[in-house]
Amino acid sequence: MDINAIRKDCKGCENKIFLNSAGSSLPPRSVVGKMEAYLQFEEELGGYEAAKLKEADINVFYEETAKLLNCKPGNIAFAYNATDAYARALSAIPLNTGDYLLTTNDDYISNQIAFISLQKRVGIKLLRANNLENGDIDLNHFEELTKQYKPALVSVTHIPTNSGLVQDVEAIGEICKRYDCWYLLDACQSVGQMEVDVKKIGCDFLSATGRKFLRGPRGTGFLYVSDEVLEAKLEPLFIDMRGADWKTADSYQIQRDAKRFEMWEFSYASVIGLAEAIRYANQISIKNIYDYNLPLIKTLRDGLAGIDGVMVLDKGSVKSNIVTFHKNGIELNEMERILKKEKVFYSVTKKEYAIIDFTKKGVDWAIRISPHYFNTLEEIKKTIDIIHG
Ligand SMILES: Cc1ncc(COP(=O)(O)O)c(C=O)c1O
Repeated sequence: MDINAIRKDCKGCENKIFLNSAGSSLPPRSVVGKMEAYLQFEEELGGYEAAKLKEADINVFYEETAKLLNCKPGNIAFAYNATDAYARALSAIPLNTGDYLLTTNDDYISNQIAFISLQKRVGIKLLRANNLENGDIDLNHFEELTKQYKPALVSVTHIPTNSGLVQDVEAIGEICKRYDCWYLLDACQSVGQMEVDVKKIGCDFLSATGRKFLRGPRGTGFLYVSDEVLEAKLEPLFIDMRGADWKTADSYQIQRDAKRFEMWEFSYASVIGLAEAIRYANQISIKNIYDYNLPLIKTLRDGLAGIDGVMVLDKGSVKSNIVTFHKNGIELNEMERILKKEKVFYSVTKKEYAIIDFTKKGVDWAIRISPHYFNTLEEIKKTIDIIHG
C-alpha cells in the first residue's frame, strides 16, 4: 500500500488529523471528480438523458459492491443510507403478532427503535442475547434463544456505533442456518475496514452506508439480498415502480433481482461517487487496508490506556477501528476544546445513543476516534500526546 499516493489522493487529510471515518470519512479526490463530471452531464442533458448515456458507469456500482461482498451484482440494491437499506429489509420479513425477533445488546440505536416500533404496532416480541463478561456475544445463550423461540428474524450489528466490539457474525450465521431463521446483518461500520464476505457470514440481508469506512459520498448506502430471499419472493412493504411492474389494475409483478428493493428515483451522481469509492477500496484491497490499520489501532488503544484517568471502553475479543474512551476528571466540553484546538477530528457518543452499553459501562459520554488507512502512525502518536495533555 502506497501511503504517500493515498494521502495525495485525499485532499482532506492535509492540515488536520482526521479521525472520524466511523462518522463520515474523507472521500478520495476521484470520488468527487467523478461526481462533478456526472453533474456536468446532467447540467447539459438533463437527468434522464445523462443516466442513459452513463449506464455503464452506473453499473460499476453493482459490480464493485458485488466484488466487495463476494456475491453477484444482482444481489445488490442501492439505498440512500444504511438505515434506509435496513428498513427496506426489515419491512420484507413477514412479522405477525407474537413472532419473536432476536437481537443483541449492541445493535444500533435506530434498529432498536425500529424493533420497539414493531412491538407497538405489530405486537412482535423482542429478545436480546446476553453478553459474556469480556463483551462478546454469548453464543450459547444466542443458540438457546433461537432454539426455544424460533425467531422470525435474527438481526445483528457487526460493529456497533458506540464501541470497538466486533460481533461474531459468522457463528451467528451458522446458528441461523441450523434453526432456519432469516438473518439481517447491519454491516454499516464494518464494510470498508475489514473483510465482509456474505457467503462466509451466511446472512440473508446486509445493510451498509457509503460515507463511513468506504469513503463514499453522503446520502448513499446499499442492501445485499441473498438468492434465498429472492427465491422466497420476499419484497419490501412499500415497493415502487422500480421494484415491481404494474400488470393489471390490481396486480404487480416483482423484479427477479435485488432491484426489487430499490426506489425509482436516485441521485445518480451519488451512485457514481459510491461506485468509485468502492472501486478505489477494492483496488487497494480490503486486506491491505485492514493490515495497514492494525498497528495504528493497537498503538492508539495502548497509548490511551496508558494515560492517567483514561478508560478505553472497547470490549470484546476482536476489536475494530472504532476506539472509544472516557477521561475522568475532565468535562466533555473541555476535552472537545482541546481536540478542536489541535485540529483533531473525532466524534462524541452520548449515553442515549447506546443506552444498554453505556449504562453497563457507567459513562454518559465517550470520545470516538476512528482512524483509517490515510492516517499515519505519527498522527496517532500526536493524538495520544494531545489527549495526555
Ligand atoms: C452500526 C450502525 N448502523 C447503522 C447506522 C446508520 O447509518 P446511516 O446513518 O447511514 O443510516 C450507523 C451510523 O452511525 C451505525 O453506526
